[in-house]
Amino acid sequence: QPDHSMHAMPGMDMGGGDQTLTAAPALPEGAPLRELPRLASRSQQAGVFEAELTAAPASTSFVPGLETPILAYNGITPGPVIEVFEGDRVSITFRNRLPDQESTIHWHGLPVPADQDGNPVSPVLPDAEQTYSFEPPKGSAGTYWYHPHPHGKTASQVYRGLAGAFLVKAKDDPIPASYGDTLFVFTDLRLAADGTLPESTMADLMNGRVGDHVLVNGQKNPVLTVAVGEFRRFRLLNATNARFLRLSLAGASLTLIGSDGGLLETPVADADELFLAPAERLEIVARFDKPGTMSLRTLGYDRGWMGPNRPEEAGKDLLTVRVSEDRGPSQPPLPGRLRPIPDLGPPAVTRRFVFTETMSMGAGGMEMGFLINGAAFHMNRVDVVSKAGQVELWEIANQADMDHPFHLHGTQFQIVERESEGKVTKPAFRALKDTVNVRRGETVRILLRQDLPGPRMYHCHILEHEDLGMMGLVNVEA
Ligand code: C2O
Ligand code: CU
Ligand code: CU
Repeated sequence: QPDHSMHAMPGMDMGGGDQTLTAAPALPEGAPLRELPRLASRSQQAGVFEAELTAAPASTSFVPGLETPILAYNGITPGPVIEVFEGDRVSITFRNRLPDQESTIHWHGLPVPADQDGNPVSPVLPDAEQTYSFEPPKGSAGTYWYHPHPHGKTASQVYRGLAGAFLVKAKDDPIPASYGDTLFVFTDLRLAADGTLPESTMADLMNGRVGDHVLVNGQKNPVLTVAVGEFRRFRLLNATNARFLRLSLAGASLTLIGSDGGLLETPVADADELFLAPAERLEIVARFDKPGTMSLRTLGYDRGWMGPNRPEEAGKDLLTVRVSEDRGPSQPPLPGRLRPIPDLGPPAVTRRFVFTETMSMGAGGMEMGFLINGAAFHMNRVDVVSKAGQVELWEIANQADMDHPFHLHGTQFQIVERESEGKVTKPAFRALKDTVNVRRGETVRILLRQDLPGPRMYHCHILEHEDLGMMGLVNVEA
């Protein structure tokens, strides 16, 4: 059981970032956006997806002439995109070739059996392998992702390069195929002057590690070319450790069509502002009315910081869109109804989870704790016992000084309401979520049902906080 407490000592590098910032090499920008490679299935059989993912040290070059040692799935970061259909039998053999480190592959957001979920209670030892098998059920079409989840090591394995997208497609997808399907995987990167990835500082552990460069599909500010007047479908995945993305794409009309667990019931027009906390996904349809150049740009976000203050900056261009003069092909309009999302009905139980940060003087100096209901995660402790098939209301209260994105394994939930300073707001539409940002001082109430038995994790998806123990275990009984 790792020690969760952090000891900040006088003179310790608090990581204000100035050194790495001034020395950070510039990344090339403006290359055409690349499509991420797909993981090939070795099965010839329809409805069966079989492949291998090996996690191992690798090397890449973000800056010409500089080699960056990374960790990669099958040699690349982001990892290969896994694309399957609802109902497919998926079987992926994971080989852990990370020197001296346990790992797992967690299928973030997918309702896989608990023993296939790659959670920290089922580690894969160095040089060992494990075959994960599951079937994304009917109704699960959506944008998911996969990443390591070993206890205490998730953050460092992810920022070094281990993360990839997992798309589940529906045979009867209501979005017209002519809209295309373009995936943007956001990661962020901090590079030292010599091209290596610096170790995380104390401030990174407290706030979550935020890089100097936000990459889209591994590229800095790439260029996407579209035709004037055309509809395009975009999927956005925030695969960063700890960066909150508040984005705009001025000059385009954006319609929100999906969230973490797939499509909404109806499209939501005029989505001028997009928000993705770490681990969240969105699907949108964009339409470009005028030729010209526009940018997917950060609007900035202050989620509360400890130590050196470094809010997420506004005005960074993450992606450039070039709208060409030539008209695209004629396309059918977006349907008015996408799919029904079931009403879960009244909850049988209500549970409350309080997120706190603590600071106290210990033997080694100042000690920080990231706690849920007063406790840090313990591998051998069951925090909550639940029943498969039972509808539950979870109340997540953030009584800490910074935002914490809450994530639950094993199911998708629905947000019932958010409460802040006594004011209650209900969501304007129904959506399936597995991650929700809980702002500092806010309480978010969610409704959920776990259908599969076994141990499931819930935690803050700032990966450094998860590693420091802001995580709990719910055991779902059959
Ligand atoms: Cu994306 Cu428990 O994780
Ligand atoms: Cu997860
Ligand atoms: Cu957190």
